[in-house]
Parts: sequence; structure tokens; C-alpha cells
Amino acid sequence: MSEGNDFDSFGQQWLPLLEDEMRAVLTSQESAVAEHYGMMHYHLGWVDESLQAGEFGSGKRIRPLLCLMACASVGGDPATALSAAAAVEILHNFSLIHDDIEDGDETRRHRPTVWTLWGVPQAINAGDGMFALSFAALLRSKQRGVGDRSLVAMLERFTACCTALTEGQHLDIGFEDREKVAVADYLRMIEGKTAVLLATALSIGALIGGADQRTDEALYGFGQHLGLAFQIQDDILGIWGDPTVTGKAAGNDILRRKKSLPLLYALNHPTVGDPLADMLASSLGDEDLPAIHHLLDVAGAKAFAEEQLYNHHQSGLAGLKEALGTDALTSPLRSLADGLLLRQA
Ligand code: IPE
Ligand code: IPE
Ligand code: MG
Ligand code: MG
Repeated sequence: MSEGNDFDSFGQQWLPLLEDEMRAVLTSQESAVAEHYGMMHYHLGWVDESLQAGEFGSGKRIRPLLCLMACASVGGDPATALSAAAAVEILHNFSLIHDDIEDGDETRRHRPTVWTLWGVPQAINAGDGMFALSFAALLRSKQRGVGDRSLVAMLERFTACCTALTEGQHLDIGFEDREKVAVADYLRMIEGKTAVLLATALSIGALIGGADQRTDEALYGFGQHLGLAFQIQDDILGIWGDPTVTGKAAGNDILRRKKSLPLLYALNHPTVGDPLADMLASSLGDEDLPAIHHLLDVAGAKAFAEEQLYNHHQSGLAGLKEALGTDALTSPLRSLADGLLLRQA
């Protein structure tokens, strides 16, 4: 395996350049609006809450890595995909700023969320700014040699992804008020809110790298399954994760009655379902969490979610093999997928 194909060295080589590209997009020379961009920089871990520079929790940068690795895996130069990779990461972070308002979450990446520091109206607006700038980032691909036809195809995929993301978020929020949710409905929801962006990141990178249609579609399929597995893991961590590791408050998914996979599985369980539904129907506080955890244990909810996660991981790897053939085994995309299976944050 050449050094350039190794997962860690790939990140070391490309992530600093990605960071530069994101900074170039999320910047204004006008001092009157410095705080607007400062909120974005805060969220991205570049400044503290007084907007002083430093290094704080930045997130894992999974989506831009997928984009850059997909480009490389089909023989392209990742430098050509840097603007597109910045676009997917900026879009992701827009969605997180809004998601924290929607979920009422006060902590992300071990720090107070944007809305808790600057209030909901400014946080909505900072998110909107990032949403718009994600398109500005994508359009900078032109300066990296991406032709007009590819650019239009990328814009189509990116726009469809934004739509899917809001559909998924709509379903997720709506499910909070539903007593029971079927696994199929849940999968539709996480497909929209999470999986499509991972798949789109891969497919845009593949497109820039010059992939043929079959490879492009197979990589998209890999991303879909990886995204489903990724969100199921997020659901597991939302209930059983260690807040000192995840950087997110524990218990909030349950207290908000999020129909994450373990919870909805237990709600559909023959013996645990009714008592659990009764608990969720009454007012809930931190003191109720141990009893709910007990019901989840009795239902075997964690094991069920882990099995689903594993199945999607396996299906994802089959898609990767379809896309890359035997190269899939040594691809950094494979290392990334396997690493996500074990992640604790
Ligand atoms: C969090 O995504 C939101 C989900 C889709 C589960 P990540 O876990 O990729 O967040 P960061 O960017 O690494 O913080
Ligand atoms: C992730 O939502 C999807 C988006 C932000 C679009 P979650 O609400 O499940 O993710 P976390 O746990 O807050 O990161
Ligand atoms: Mg959330
Ligand atoms: Mg959410």
C-alpha cells in the first residue's frame, strides 16, 4: 500500500488544505459582520466564545474525507475535489447548528451550542449563512478545473441532498410526537437526515475524479449503507455513550422522545412496549432515565441496534467492493468505514 493510500496519511495530507478552503469561503473583510462569521468559526472549533483563535472540537470531518477519498479511489486528484469537500462539510455544519436548536441540545463537541451562546435568532441566521456558503464553496470547484457539465451535475446532487436532509429532519422531529414508529419509517427518516449526505459526498468526489456511472452508483450505495450504520451508531451513543467522550449531553434523545432505533425497537416489544410508552407519555426527567434504561435492557434494544448497524456496515462494504473491486480491501474508504463501526464519539 503506497503512503498516499494509507488512511492516516491521507487525512494528514488533505485535512489542513480542507481547513484552508473552508476558511477562505467562511470569511468577510467587513468588520460590521465579523460576529456573524465568528459564530460559524466558533461552531467549527476555530475560535472560543469570545472569538479568540484557538483549537477546539472541530468534528471528525468524515464527509469531506469521503469526498476526497472517493475522488482518489477512482484515479482523480483530490486537490480538484477540495472545494466540493469543503461544501459538504459546511453543509453538514449548517445542519448541526439548526439541528441543535431543533433538538434543544445545549452541548456539542464538548462546548455550548451556538444557540445557547448567541440566542436562537442569530443561530438560525448563522446556519443560513453557512447553508448559502456551502453552495459558494461548491461553485469554487470551477477554479479547480471542474468543467461546467460536471458542475451542473454536482449542483443537482447537492441540491437533492439538501432537500432530502430537510425531509429527514421533518420526519425526525415529527416522530417525537408519535407513540410508535416502524423500523421502515425510521430507516426512511435516517436515510434523509444522515445517509444521503454521506452518499452524496462520495458521489460528488467520484464524479470529479472521473468515475464511470456504475462505479459512481456503487459508491453512492456504499455511502447510503455507511450513513445508515453511522446514524444507528449515533443513536446508540445518544443513549449509552459517555458524554465526556461524545461531547454531547446524555439522555436528551430519550427525554425528547426521539424515536431512535433502540427506543422504537423497545416500544414495539411485546412486553416492554406498553410500560415504556406509558412512561414516555408522562412528564419525564433525568430521574426516569434509569428505569427507561432498564426497559431497554430487558427488550435487548442495544443488541438489536448493533445487529442492524453491523448489517448495514456489511452491505456498505459489498457496495465498496462492487465499486473498487479488490482495491476495496486496501482502500482508505474501507479503513474509514471500519473505524466508524468502532467509534465512541
Ligand atoms: C453528527 O455527525 C450528526 C449525525 C449525522 C449523526 P458527526 O458525528 O459526523 O459530527 P462531527 O462533525 O464529527 O461533530
Ligand atoms: C443528525 O441528527 C442529522 C442532522 C443534523 C441533519 P441528530 O440529531 O441525530 O444528530 P446529533 O446526535 O445531534 O449529532
Ligand atoms: Mg441532534
Ligand atoms: Mg436531530
